[in-house]
Amino acid sequence: MRQALPNTVRACCLWLVAISLALLIAALLTHGWRTANAHAEGGTPADPNQACLGCHAGAGKTMTFASGEVLSVDIDLNAYHASVHGARLDCLDCHERNGDYPHPAVEVRSRRDYARAEYETCYRCHFEEYTRSLDSTHYDAMAGGNASAAICTDCHTAHAVTSLKGQRQQIALICANCHRDIYDQYAQSVHGAALAEDNPDVPSCIDCHGVHDISSATTASFRSNSVQLCSNCHSNQKLMSKYGISANVTKTYLDDFHGKTAGFYQEQSPSIWVGVAVCTDCHGVHNIKRPDDPGSSVIKANLTTTCRRCHGNATPNFPAAWLGHYEPSINKAPIVFFVQQYYRFLIPLMVAGLGLNVALDLWRLARNR
Ligand code: HEC
Ligand code: HEC
Ligand code: HEC
Ligand code: HEC
Ligand code: HEC
Ligand code: HEC
Ligand code: HEC
Ligand code: HEC
Ligand code: HEC
Repeated sequence: MRQALPNTVRACCLWLVAISLALLIAALLTHGWRTANAHAEGGTPADPNQACLGCHAGAGKTMTFASGEVLSVDIDLNAYHASVHGARLDCLDCHERNGDYPHPAVEVRSRRDYARAEYETCYRCHFEEYTRSLDSTHYDAMAGGNASAAICTDCHTAHAVTSLKGQRQQIALICANCHRDIYDQYAQSVHGAALAEDNPDVPSCIDCHGVHDISSATTASFRSNSVQLCSNCHSNQKLMSKYGISANVTKTYLDDFHGKTAGFYQEQSPSIWVGVAVCTDCHGVHNIKRPDDPGSSVIKANLTTTCRRCHGNATPNFPAAWLGHYEPSINKAPIVFFVQQYYRFLIPLMVAGLGLNVALDLWRLARNR
């Protein structure tokens, strides 16, 4: 009996040691596994996105739409972490309904319909841009059934969002994804060629069209306003002298018959279609060239064709008799110049003469009295 107690104690101690060891090993094993997992998925153990990444970072899972299109549900984590949202948002900030698995079923028919339903999530934090986009021609086109009109994620992507501010060349390329023909013309134009060299003075797509509230470009008011659009830069003396280009083109245009009429409509009723020539009728829109470029619509060899678009039976004499942007001078249009000068001096002279005549008359009357 005296030996039984120490024996029981020894047995108990052995058991305790064994259990502790087992617990320690278990703890070490789980820790090692967790760390390994965290490294494999590129996050820290505290990352709330961790729950998602087991299935969404390289697991090769997909989803299939009713249309038959298959979409990978793997996320490019490097691009996501490098994005403006990467360090600020959790997956669930945008994907509120995906907290649990299995996820609620996705009700849309196609890949495009999925994108159109999901981009609405941007609205919660970027209310201003979202609200502006409701006034855009893209939104109207979409509402009218054109599913390919641009939504937030077409221009910004969903998971690789970067700031586009000041990224002028990149922006033109984003528009090019859907407006390829226009981009190709623009890239060959005097403005586009300069943009390719990072010139900050020439217009990129959004300088003429805006960004989130792009309006239709085929309306009467857009046409009326286009003169002002060009003039914002082309009557800026400081900007134009940098390139040796006349900053008088708006003034001479508005003094001309086309410009007088266009100016009148713009002031009185901008919603009436301007029939007379505006800047872009002569120079082109996205394909504007220097006036001495052989491809320019205003180089002498092409000018008659340009006028004929509206003046059906114009002959080469027709534009030749027109002053263009020149102000009359002794060298250019001397007759007009002299007629102008003649009137400039003759009229004041005649008025002065008349005045003198009346004064002399009055003087004589007074004297005769
Ligand atoms: C157990 C694996 C698993 C986990 C965990 C998981 N997902 Fe998913 N997820 C999937 C699968 C599989 C699909 C493909 C569609 C389906 O089967 O539901 C999917 C689809 C999605 C989609 C696209 C469809 C939709 O509903 O819009 C989103 C978004 C998404 N998951 C987000 C998340 C987020 C956020 C988390 C973390 C909170 C998460 N998932 C966690 C497996 C998972
Ligand atoms: C800024 C909002 C935002 C954040 C943050 C975000 N997503 Fe998304 N996600 C979207 C949008 C919008 C779509 C719709 C996608 C489209 O048009 O391609 C989408 C689509 C998905 C899809 C469907 C497959 C695909 O690529 O279209 C999955 C899966 C998904 N997200 C998972 C995640 C996970 C996981 C995270 C966190 C690492 C995350 N998302 C973070 C906005 C976000
Ligand atoms: C939960 C809130 C939230 C949601 C949802 C969200 N964002 Fe953001 N977004 C932010 C925050 C925060 C910033 C960083 C703002 C900053 O840098 O000042 C940001 C920045 C941006 C920027 C860069 C802004 C800049 O200064 O140039 C763009 C572009 C952007 N988000 C687009 C989107 C798009 C597109 C969606 C939808 C797919 C979206 N965001 C959804 C919170 C959100
Ligand atoms: C047609 C392409 C396009 C669409 C569609 C678009 N954006 Fe933008 N977004 C841009 C460009 C380009 C810029 C950079 C503007 C600049 O340089 O001034 C920008 C800038 C931003 C910015 C930075 C702040 C600012 O206003 O400059 C935020 C935030 C933003 N967009 C959110 C959104 C959201 C949200 C949507 C959807 C409602 C959206 N965008 C739709 C092209 C687009
Ligand atoms: C995802 C495709 C897509 C992207 C990206 C896109 N657009 Fe569009 N855009 C459309 C569609 C579709 C229409 C409507 C059909 C049409 O008139 O061509 C449209 C219409 C327009 C219109 C009105 C055309 C008219 O007839 O009056 C203008 C202007 C325009 N886009 C400019 C831009 C600019 C500038 C950008 C870049 C900042 C851009 N778009 C980016 C698809 C896109
Ligand atoms: C110098 C200003 C200017 C620049 C830069 C510019 N546009 Fe335009 N855009 C216009 C004008 C003016 C119109 C109206 C054309 C007309 O009267 O036929 C127009 C028309 C359009 C239209 C609708 C008419 C059509 O032909 O389908 C689209 C779309 C468009 N532009 C997209 C773009 C894109 C994309 C870019 C950049 C690659 C761009 N624009 C650059 C001034 C500009
Ligand atoms: C954002 C400012 C800006 C706007 C808006 C703009 N331009 Fe320009 N344009 C320039 C600059 C700067 C140059 C000189 C580029 C160079 O020489 O590299 C230029 C060059 C030209 C030239 C070539 C002139 C020459 O002698 O080399 C013509 C023609 C022209 N623009 C016509 C137009 C028309 C028409 C519009 C309106 C549809 C317009 N521009 C809108 C800035 C602008
Ligand atoms: C009826 C046709 C016509 C209209 C309308 C027209 N132009 Fe011109 N433009 C020409 C011709 C022709 C030339 C080349 C000869 C010249 O300078 O007169 C020219 C030359 C130019 C030049 C080059 C000047 C230089 O110093 O190199 C610019 C810039 C220009 N135009 C811009 C505009 C702007 C801006 C408008 C609208 C306010 C406009 N044009 C309206 C026909 C036109
Ligand atoms: C977009 C159409 C358009 C283009 C292009 C155009 N014009 Fe005109 N022009 C008009 C309209 C409309 C009137 C006024 C209608 C009228 O009363 O004959 C007018 C009036 C004139 C007049 C006043 C005398 C007259 O015939 O009524 C002259 C001169 C003239 N244009 C010269 C030119 C020259 C030169 C060019 C080419 C460099 C040109 N126009 C290009 C539309 C255009």
